[in-house]
This record gives sequence, C-alpha cells and structure tokens, in this order.
Amino acid sequence: MKIDVLTLFPEMFHGVLGSSIMKRAEQKGILEFVLHDIREYSESKHKNADDYPFGGGAGMVMMPQPIFSCLDEVDSEHRAYRIALTPRGDVLSPSLAKELAKKDSLLLLCGHYEGIDERALSVMDREVSIGDYVLTGGELPAMVLIDCLSRFIDGVLGSDDSNKDESFSDGLLEYPQYTRPAEYRGMKVPNVLLSGNHAEIEKWRREKSLEETKKRRPDLLEKLK
Ligand code: ADE
Repeated sequence: MKIDVLTLFPEMFHGVLGSSIMKRAEQKGILEFVLHDIREYSESKHKNADDYPFGGGAGMVMMPQPIFSCLDEVDSEHRAYRIALTPRGDVLSPSLAKELAKKDSLLLLCGHYEGIDERALSVMDREVSIGDYVLTGGELPAMVLIDCLSRFIDGVLGSDDSNKDESFSDGLLEYPQYTRPAEYRGMKVPNVLLSGNHAEIEKWRREKSLEETKKRRPDLLEKLK
C-alpha cells in the first residue's frame, strides 16, 4: 500500500515511520510512505500556508492553494483514497482501520492551526478523528491511523496471528500476559498458564478477558449485547 502524507511538518514522521514495524514493512515492500511538505507548494512570496479566517476569530486557517497544488502533483487523477485528519471526522475504530487497510493507496492530509479551508476538505473522501479531544495538528493522528491500519495488512506483523487475541479484536479487552520468570519478587504467574493444558488456558483467558472488560470498560460489554 502506498501512503502519501501531506503535512507542514514532514520531519515529525521520520522517527515513527523509520522505526520498528513500520520500517520493516517498508523494507519488505508492503508499505511505501511518501511525505510531502505542503509549504513547498505555496505560491506566495514567503511560502505561507495559512491565513486569517474570513469572518474573524482566533487562529489561522490552512490555505486552499498549497493543498490543491500539492494534490494536483501527487494525486492528479484522484486515484488515492483521500483522508483528512480532523477532530470532526469519523472516529477511528478497528472496523474502520480494517476497511482502510484494504485500499491500494491512501492520501492523508494533516491539518494544523485552527483548521483547513473547507474547499480543500471538500475534495477528500473522508475525515477521520482519533478521538474526542483536540490535538495541535493532524500529524499524530495520521501516525496513529497508519500504525493502526497497517496491523491489518498481511505480512506487516510477524505472524498473521498476532492480531487475533488483541484487545478489541473480539470486542473484549485482552487477557493478562506473563513471561519468565514464573515467580518475580514474590509475584507468581497463575498456575494454569504453566500447566500445558491448552483447553484450560483458553478457558482461563476467556474468563479473564470478560473480567477485565467488566472491570475497566463495561461500555464494551453493553455494546456486545
Ligand atoms: N486534529 C486535531 N485533533 C484531532 C483528532 N482528535 N483527530 C484527528 N485529527 C485531529
């Protein structure tokens, strides 16, 4: 999958996309990230990318011209599925991530300042939010979206199973995990996990999943019913 990112701060992405699983996915040829600096497309003398809002009010608004010029170059035929990261967008969920993971190419538009000129948003296919809180820009949300959806693309995770038992994959939170040693500072790993009895382990994990969900996120259980 090719992912074009339109941003005023491309450097923010280097650490995240150049490390760990994202880096490996790009090396394997499963993902390709292309960062585009919106400011470079500005036709104004000082390479401005934002301006005061018509009608007044606080903050600055991202101008349409640099965004449209960038789109003309990067996606002139509108082949990519275009997503703007905005607080008013559809809230990211596992099902939305799975749906987006099926696309051949995505284009992510990151806003900064108070917002993006509505005419630039009108040529997007969708707006996505990562939650009901407002961040200073769409860069972190874009990275969250990339990380989240890439887990649903075959080959990105080490084993195709790694997504199966995660929190939320069946609507429940994940069961507790332990690794060696079997006892640490007096705290013991539950015996059943050392038993080698896979049926019993499965049952324990299911029970713990339900217990954790009931304790921490009863709203998820309500949704399942
Ligand atoms: N930009 C600012 N806040 C955001 C959010 N919560 N989700 C997506 N984009 C944003």
